[in-house]
Amino acid sequence: PFGVLSQLRRESPVRFDENRNCWDVFPYEDVHRILKDPKMFSSARGAAANQNLLFMDPPKHHQLRDLVNKAFTPRAIQELAPRIRDIAEDLLSQAGAEMDVVHDFAAPLPVIVISELLGVPSSDRHHFKQWSDVLVESAEDLSDEAFEQIMQKRMKTVGELTDYFQGILKERASEPKDDLVSALMQAEIEGEKLSEQEIVNFCILLLAAGNETTTNLITNSFRILTEQPQLQVELAQDPGVIPTFIEEVLRYYPPIVSIGRVASEDVQIGGSLIRKGDQVITWVGAANRDESKFTDPDAFHKLRKPNPHMSFGFGIHFCLGAPLARLEGHIAIETLLQFCHDIKLVPGREIVPIQSSFVFGLKNYPVTFE
Ligand code: HEM
Repeated sequence: PFGVLSQLRRESPVRFDENRNCWDVFPYEDVHRILKDPKMFSSARGAAANQNLLFMDPPKHHQLRDLVNKAFTPRAIQELAPRIRDIAEDLLSQAGAEMDVVHDFAAPLPVIVISELLGVPSSDRHHFKQWSDVLVESAEDLSDEAFEQIMQKRMKTVGELTDYFQGILKERASEPKDDLVSALMQAEIEGEKLSEQEIVNFCILLLAAGNETTTNLITNSFRILTEQPQLQVELAQDPGVIPTFIEEVLRYYPPIVSIGRVASEDVQIGGSLIRKGDQVITWVGAANRDESKFTDPDAFHKLRKPNPHMSFGFGIHFCLGAPLARLEGHIAIETLLQFCHDIKLVPGREIVPIQSSFVFGLKNYPVTFE
């Protein structure tokens, strides 16, 4: 889609789409300005408003974010490195000489990590994968029926997840453990404990926001490594380059291509008047390839620096899980290149892209390797 997004950025940088009843914003500077300004561009939208961090505005956002940040600092996350490496090695050693990257490696890795972090049995992870798939699925077309169908599926899944996490909370209430769920149950904001609903919503958010995105980061990394196979040799020889490689994958094939907001006031963006209450979609996938910000934007440069992509968003909602996603991406590719050489896409198989207007990734990616 990136060719189309770049074309739209050039031809209609800020436009209103009658069909979808929303604004689309493509240039880097405009996307940046919108994400930077939560007062003018609110995240509280639809039925999800104020139900979890992602859809909250200040001051509530600030309080909850402060609280959960502690579990996600780069330092806290770095401690997970040895365990993530073990999981990655385990998955690769089970793979043999051929695997489906998504099914065998990129999907299970983040699901196991997040279930261990939350403290839920990783034997439940197959449910997690199904649940997180439904949460990020988009309608197949723009019809009301398709939309209705998706919403019903999502509501059902959120109901199942709520029941599931309520069960976990009950267990922890009688027997706290050294995990994130227990920590959240003990935490307080201004002397008040979080409600059961708030904790459950946060757990659901971690699954929804963290799994599919990290899966796609890993799958998209494989995609580049097979599209430009010399990268496999270069990174294997110099693993120190892997962090800038991962940043460039994030820019070039961002797992999240668009982020939504609602205008809180009438406001001018790129010469257009956006009215209070209008939906605004910022296209990170277009901004990341804006030539006014990135030289040679359609080329993949493993050493690109600086690389101010907005694939983790920007401003107060900047991805809470970014240190974890970066670490998982890094370890996945490092482990891969340590044990596997000559990774090739299996020819002649159909590769199925994920049907979504905000996620960029693949449903399958069969490879062989030595
Ligand atoms: C927020 C992308 C991995 C948890 C966001 C946002 C983006 C994003 C674009 C901002 C949304 C907005 O402004 O409305 C990604 C990508 C990932 C990734 C590309 C992987 C490569 C993770 C992981 C976790 C996570 C692993 C947790 C385990 C969150 C949370 C928020 C968030 C909780 C909401 C933060 C807030 O509203 O303050 N992510 N994410 N993400 N992400 Fe991630």
